[in-house]
Amino acid sequence: MNLQPNSQIEFRSASLRLMDLFLEYGYEHSVAAKNYAYCERMQRWMFEFLFDQGLRPHHDFLDIGCGWLRLPYVMLPYLEAGRYHGIDSDQINLDIGLRWLKEAGIQPEPNLIVDREFAFDRFAKKFDIAFIHAVFTHLSHSQVENCLRSLQKVMKPGGVCYFTFYRSRKDWDGTSIYSITGKESLSYEVSHLTLNYFRRLFRDMDVDWEYLGTKGHPTGHAVIKVSFTKPPSTLRRIFRSIRSRLK
Ligand SMILES: C[S@@+](CC[C@H](N)C(=O)[O-])C[C@H]1O[C@@H](n2cnc3c(N)ncnc32)[C@H](O)[C@@H]1O
Repeated sequence: MNLQPNSQIEFRSASLRLMDLFLEYGYEHSVAAKNYAYCERMQRWMFEFLFDQGLRPHHDFLDIGCGWLRLPYVMLPYLEAGRYHGIDSDQINLDIGLRWLKEAGIQPEPNLIVDREFAFDRFAKKFDIAFIHAVFTHLSHSQVENCLRSLQKVMKPGGVCYFTFYRSRKDWDGTSIYSITGKESLSYEVSHLTLNYFRRLFRDMDVDWEYLGTKGHPTGHAVIKVSFTKPPSTLRRIFRSIRSRLK
């Protein structure tokens, strides 16, 4: 497995540099320190998980909510040039990530877009594998649904998506204040998502899915795999059209 950087020391110094950049861009020390503490473990887990699931260099890869680019830091040297695509709602996070990659000489360049409406079609490309890590923890149910339905339109036949979330016993949305920097804070939705919610959503989307458990995730996120390939069956199309006429 070509996981770079390949030594503990390189990983540690990369995480320390990331912490410096967070502070330089105005993040609170507590936020910067937390990102330092988890960076290396998250990078390893994300890369190894995707590798084990079959991600290979020729795959067109979409990283939704790519943040400060801790996944592309280890994935760009593995994927063929032009295969990595990242989208995030926050320009500051992308700026931090781009500085971090540039200083470390990570190549090739990632394809990045700032967008908070899940406009994946802006890449003008279809994808083999999509990954949504630690993002649904910050979205409402309707945003989660919007994201997955938008994704369905840009996946190749045979494409799959993996996403992480905190599994809840009850479905509800809340609001929380996320301190981005000392000057700025962001009010965001916090959804508490159940497996039943996904069962209903994926039935309506007519896609196959599988609950994979926590897969050894460093902070215990649960993982779901979605296969967007199944075209709606004739029977289902008829059922849908009758249902929509009855509404
Ligand atoms: C906890 S971070 C995870 C970053 C990255 N996935 C990782 O694990 O390294 C969550 C990210 O989701 C992004 N985000 C939140 N709402 C979004 C939206 N509507 N569209 C795209 N990104 C969003 C945030 O800006 C943030 O960078």
